[in-house]
Amino acid sequence: LRYPVICIDGPSGAGKGTVTWRLAQTLGYQLLDSGALYRIVGLKAFEAGLLNVDGEQSIDETALLALTQSLQIVFEPNIDSGRVDIIVNGAKIGEQVRNETVGGYASRVAVYPKVRQALLKLQQDMASQSGLVADGRDMGTVVFPDADVKVYLTASAKARAERRVAQLLQAGQAADFEAILATIKARDDRDENRATAPSKPAEDALVLDSSNLDADAVYELVKKHCQDQG
Ligand code: C5P
Repeated sequence: LRYPVICIDGPSGAGKGTVTWRLAQTLGYQLLDSGALYRIVGLKAFEAGLLNVDGEQSIDETALLALTQSLQIVFEPNIDSGRVDIIVNGAKIGEQVRNETVGGYASRVAVYPKVRQALLKLQQDMASQSGLVADGRDMGTVVFPDADVKVYLTASAKARAERRVAQLLQAGQAADFEAILATIKARDDRDENRATAPSKPAEDALVLDSSNLDADAVYELVKKHCQDQG
């Protein structure tokens, strides 16, 4: 027996998290937040001093692999936050893991094939007990090439930066549009142009541009696509 898998790929800020959560809740499926895996590895690598080298300089891949293999990562849905809590080696990870600095660490460690390989089985195993909605960059292309439904949800960098600014302002934090836009573009560039598992739509994915759509409209379109795919 094989359980259904729905893949929602695309760049950060396109609205994947919201639509993935809603689909998982509605369908009673598990949720795979694959970005969280790379964020945890990025954060732990930073804490271990492996990212101290500046900018694009390479990281010690052997040490990075050992670190990745030492992590026991479990997700627990959190109804209040509308996303998963992340438990690593028995301890819950703080919200800090979601910030843009850690997003940058994640995209630096995510270029290493050994890291990606070490995280592959954990991701694929999540589809072995129930249906799964998987959110990431390479869900439809690499991790679940036979998935039942594939969506690549994107939006212009400008629209994504505007959403981020609005979120930060709403949380009472400072927000510099130009700085945020530059950070988003740098992360897109690294994710889309890396040699291994670059962020791109699978050949059989529905590509959806959410630049001019709100979260409800995106959810309805994705839900309809799931129904159409049977
Ligand atoms: O989606 P999120 O912003 O949490 O992802 C953080 C980073 O992790 C991405 O910018 C990307 O570099 C990496 N990632 C990846 N493959 C995935 C999910 C995330 O390489 N499937």
